[in-house]
Amino acid sequence: MPEAPLIDTFGRLHDNLRISVTDRCNIRCFYCMPESGVKFTDRHEILTFEEMERFARVAVSLGVSKIRVTGGEPLVRKDLAVLIGKLARIEGVKDIALTTNGVLLAEQAQDLYDAGLRRLNVHLDTLDAARFQQITRRDEHHRVMAGIDKALELGFGPIKINAVAVKNLVEPDIVPLARYGRERGVEIRYIEFMPLDAQGLWDKGKVLLADTMLEMLAAEIGPLEAVPDPDPRAPALEYRFLDGIGKIGFIASVSRPFCLNCNRIRLTSDGQLRYCLFAVEETDVKGLLRGGAGDDEIRRTIRTTIQKKWLGHEINTAQFVAPPRPMYAIGG
Ligand code: 5AD
Ligand code: SF4
Repeated sequence: MPEAPLIDTFGRLHDNLRISVTDRCNIRCFYCMPESGVKFTDRHEILTFEEMERFARVAVSLGVSKIRVTGGEPLVRKDLAVLIGKLARIEGVKDIALTTNGVLLAEQAQDLYDAGLRRLNVHLDTLDAARFQQITRRDEHHRVMAGIDKALELGFGPIKINAVAVKNLVEPDIVPLARYGRERGVEIRYIEFMPLDAQGLWDKGKVLLADTMLEMLAAEIGPLEAVPDPDPRAPALEYRFLDGIGKIGFIASVSRPFCLNCNRIRLTSDGQLRYCLFAVEETDVKGLLRGGAGDDEIRRTIRTTIQKKWLGHEINTAQFVAPPRPMYAIGG
């Protein structure tokens, strides 16, 4: 008998799994990581590719059909293309995507492509190498740019650029990024700064809001119109330029939360299942995977976790509690 789909107590269908493959990263974006002294998880606490694949298979048997691989920075995990290949071959996986900072993309793009990957999100906040260094504390801008070029050359698509929007910092980058996206046929997605940084720097006053960016883009480039997303549960608000050249999107988690449409569950690299980016509690699945649990037991655990899912985060309320894990240990 086919399994019932993963529907939570608010009627939301969960068909989207994000797997974080490592908490390590080769750059140090300040809105995610401290500059130094990051304590990474011991290697033997990190799930193996086989364990991730097994978990993904069980999740797919419950109706998950989209998988996104994230980090930390996923490309620092050795032989990542092997995992992509394993996931892409699971029957029932219709869509596989990778979120990367792009530093190692040029060297790995061909292997990833050959493993079946097409959909890429590359994290890039600025076209300015000096500001890149200020944000990431690393001098890797040229490698990210080369990575995007390589991915375009190989025919990856859709390629989207994730730009984190921090107020009083990236205003000069908003318009140049959109122009770059229009020239290359890549969609820029501006992500409102969220309270997931490791150092507790976030406050609402540091969020560059989607509406402000929209006004900047309309004034400098030209008028835009909202486009309905083909997948109504995708988090981005999408717009296109009326001259027909290019699309942009906003992940407006702070000013326009999209929790009502959430279809996502997250597996951390150390084998914890999370029902929300901002969840405070998590469910251990590594113990099950390593303790000889059967698929049924894992299925039950996934269902129980989803049943606990809340209606949405409370970033905008006084009750908000930042999750104990920062972004690099969740995977976005
Ligand atoms: N707020 C918003 N987005 C963030 N990211 C990392 N840290 C934050 C934050 N504090 C984004 C990066 C990465 C994605 C997984 O999450 O752009 O691409
Ligand atoms: Fe690394 Fe991504 Fe965090 Fe930046 S946001 S430090 S690229 S994990």
